[in-house]
Amino acid sequence: MTQNAVEARGLVKRYGETVALGGVDVEVPTGTITAILGPNGAGKTTAVRILTTLTEPDEGSGTVAGFDVRTHPHEVRRRIGLTAQDATVDPILTGRENLVMIGELHQLPRREAKTRAAELLRQFSLEDAADRTVDGYSGGMRRRLDIAGTLVAHPQVLFLDEPTTGLDPRARNDLWAVLDRLVAQGTTILLTTQYLEEADRLADDIFVVDHGAVIARGDARSLKRQVGGDQIGLVVSDPAHLDAAVAILTEATGAPPLVDTAGRSATAPTNDGTRALATAAGRLADAGIGVDDLGVHQPTLDEVFLTLTGMPIDPDHENDTETHTAVSAQEVLS
Ligand SMILES: Nc1ncnc2c1ncn2[C@@H]1O[C@H](COP(=O)(O)OP(=O)(O)OP(=O)(O)O)[C@@H](O)[C@H]1O
Ligand SMILES: [Mg+2]
Repeated sequence: MTQNAVEARGLVKRYGETVALGGVDVEVPTGTITAILGPNGAGKTTAVRILTTLTEPDEGSGTVAGFDVRTHPHEVRRRIGLTAQDATVDPILTGRENLVMIGELHQLPRREAKTRAAELLRQFSLEDAADRTVDGYSGGMRRRLDIAGTLVAHPQVLFLDEPTTGLDPRARNDLWAVLDRLVAQGTTILLTTQYLEEADRLADDIFVVDHGAVIARGDARSLKRQVGGDQIGLVVSDPAHLDAAVAILTEATGAPPLVDTAGRSATAPTNDGTRALATAAGRLADAGIGVDDLGVHQPTLDEVFLTLTGMPIDPDHENDTETHTAVSAQEVLS
């Protein structure tokens, strides 16, 4: 029997006039990793907060590890870990002290808390920094410690809200490897991300959300098929040539490009990257249009949104991040 570790049905959450979630369904099969992918303000954190019992939905229901988040929040909390969007480790303690403290909050005897801390420090490659205070840690180390803290009590289901936002590519790769290992050990993970690449790399199943609604769902391959596979991007040397270049790109790909005037650039989806690239390159050369860059790449989130919604990511939402209150992971540990 397949069972979902997380199941949400028709989640609605309003904040005054704002509809943070407008009826969202999500499932995460046990032992898998699922991503909620969306831009700022899409409703990702709101969904995570509901499923981790930090806030109640206005409508709809959710179960985690078989328990209803509304009627059995304590049962849910005993089985989950949450790494919130903002780091929650204490900067004046060392990495080891943080983990031991979390163990004790979970009622582990001190010895066991110490053993568990040592185990996690090793697993997250933090042994060298274990006895330094966290305020000297890099962003990537802090994030790893944060996730290690979430794992102290061996949660069945792990919620990660934008685990790699702000990390450099190397720190991001390290964290991805850690998450792979966790899933291999049987943990179920629901993560949120703004990066298609991350969802692609990690998740078996991806829910694309925008303005509080799921606008697409599938594995990375099927989503990319929906958005037309690769993208052809160009940057013109002379801004005066951008319009002509856009016309050539439209003809070569058969799709309307996403144009960034300030960046002198345009990108368009294509199912046949090499051929379209060759066509575009030939016509640009014929027209005497110089380019600083021309190439095929995987779609970015912005390009996915253009294809799925017909609109770029809503810039009004870009700066919503700072407006809501941070969640302490300790709130979950009651
Ligand atoms: N506590 C709150 N009070 C008022 N509005 C809120 C609150 N929490 C969220 N919102 C609003 O609900 C919408 C969804 O927010 P949410 O934080 O879930 O988005 P998100 O996808 O996590 O975005 P980000 O990528 O910026 O973290 C936004 O318009 C946001 O401003
Ligand atoms: Mg968020």
